[in-house]
Amino acid sequence: MAGGPREQWTSRRGFVLAAIGSAVGLGNMWRFSYLAAENGGAAFVILYLAVTLLVGLPVLLAELVLGRGSQKSPIQALTHYGGRLWKPLGLVFVSAGFLILSYYAVIAGWALRYGLAAIASGFDPNAAERFGEVASGWDAFGYHLAFMAFTVFVVVRGVSRGIERTSMLLMPMLFALVVGLAVYAATLDGASAGYTYYLAADFSKLRSLDALKDAAGQAFFSLSLGMGAMLTFASYLGRDVNLPRASVIIAGADISIAFIAGLVVFPMIFALGLSADVSASTVGALFITLPKAFAEMGCVGRVVGVLFFVALIVGALTSAISLLEVVVSSTMDGLGWSRRRAGVLLGIAIAALGAPSAWSTEILGAVDQVANNILLLGGGFALSIFVGWVMAGPIEEAREGAASFAWFGSWRTLLRYAVPAFLFFVLVYDAIPSTFRTIADLF
Ligand code: PFF
Repeated sequence: MAGGPREQWTSRRGFVLAAIGSAVGLGNMWRFSYLAAENGGAAFVILYLAVTLLVGLPVLLAELVLGRGSQKSPIQALTHYGGRLWKPLGLVFVSAGFLILSYYAVIAGWALRYGLAAIASGFDPNAAERFGEVASGWDAFGYHLAFMAFTVFVVVRGVSRGIERTSMLLMPMLFALVVGLAVYAATLDGASAGYTYYLAADFSKLRSLDALKDAAGQAFFSLSLGMGAMLTFASYLGRDVNLPRASVIIAGADISIAFIAGLVVFPMIFALGLSADVSASTVGALFITLPKAFAEMGCVGRVVGVLFFVALIVGALTSAISLLEVVVSSTMDGLGWSRRRAGVLLGIAIAALGAPSAWSTEILGAVDQVANNILLLGGGFALSIFVGWVMAGPIEEAREGAASFAWFGSWRTLLRYAVPAFLFFVLVYDAIPSTFRTIADLF
């Protein structure tokens, strides 16, 4: 495939579903609901919406514009518009994809294991012990490898035959599953306590800047921003696609699924009286408390639990595909490798890099922190500067295929000033020691 004409999506719908597939994943189901519960419920949801619309959406459109305009993968897209000086940033993007996939696939491997075990023998009521066995060691590594093999398989088949087809098939199924589970959760006795916990607004929590930092990190992770994934997907697009509209649809779908996932998780946990188990770890809520809830629900729980884990695995797979595609397409464009060679060799390298995360959930958590709070937010900062100030004609590119693009004036202004200023602030806040933070929180 290397050297031939650039691959293309066969339909706009295929592109949009693949991009939503990238966005919707473990971040929506694994992290969002927990962050909301911890940071003041509906208050956090409102803050998150604001950050997504004012910071995430402009960066998403910037990535789409950069990708479609250059028709290249991240490193070449940056050098195409900015010269060789920008090559290191492209390398950071590709490394971020490498690193994130290495631990993301470990978590997806846990989900795979839970799902298969539930089909075979149901859920174990000793959920905490079970999690200990599943989450680390050779077992975790084995399922991580299996999940990576699926991801490589799809990516090696190519943009339209692999990624697009998979997304067209799996994404509608994922929507149906998540909505169906939310409807089922609403019928449980005691569900209302879960809604109250999730959605009661406690604005006092927002006084800490930590909530802002969490909202920003989550918005970038959830929308797959800051490392060129959306850029890469847009590089396979033709000029007739309305990018501003696509960006709104992708962000809207991502927020909706995250929100609905919370309407699944909390009613189930509270209906079974497991609220005390919503432990201090994000991993806990999903991989310990929920399986325990499914175990207590008996036969119905087994069916519901299998469906839940299927949704989780599907979300994780379509996201992992986009992470691998960043690395693969960059290697194809940069080194002239074939898709097959790049997919297989890089897949093996990423699988090996995931070994430490498969061995220790602490290492996994630490890598996740670095990736999320530094690489993605830093990448978003650099991207907004690049498209806002360096790239020639971003508005013209965004206008191609968009009959009416009403918000372009504010888009460029946001990208030039507000977005980098906001991200710089969050990055600095994250870097300063906690004592200063307490002082900063007073203001
Ligand atoms: N957006 C994915 C999620 O919410 O699970 C994670 C992700 C995928 C992050 C692709 C970054 C990326 F490039």
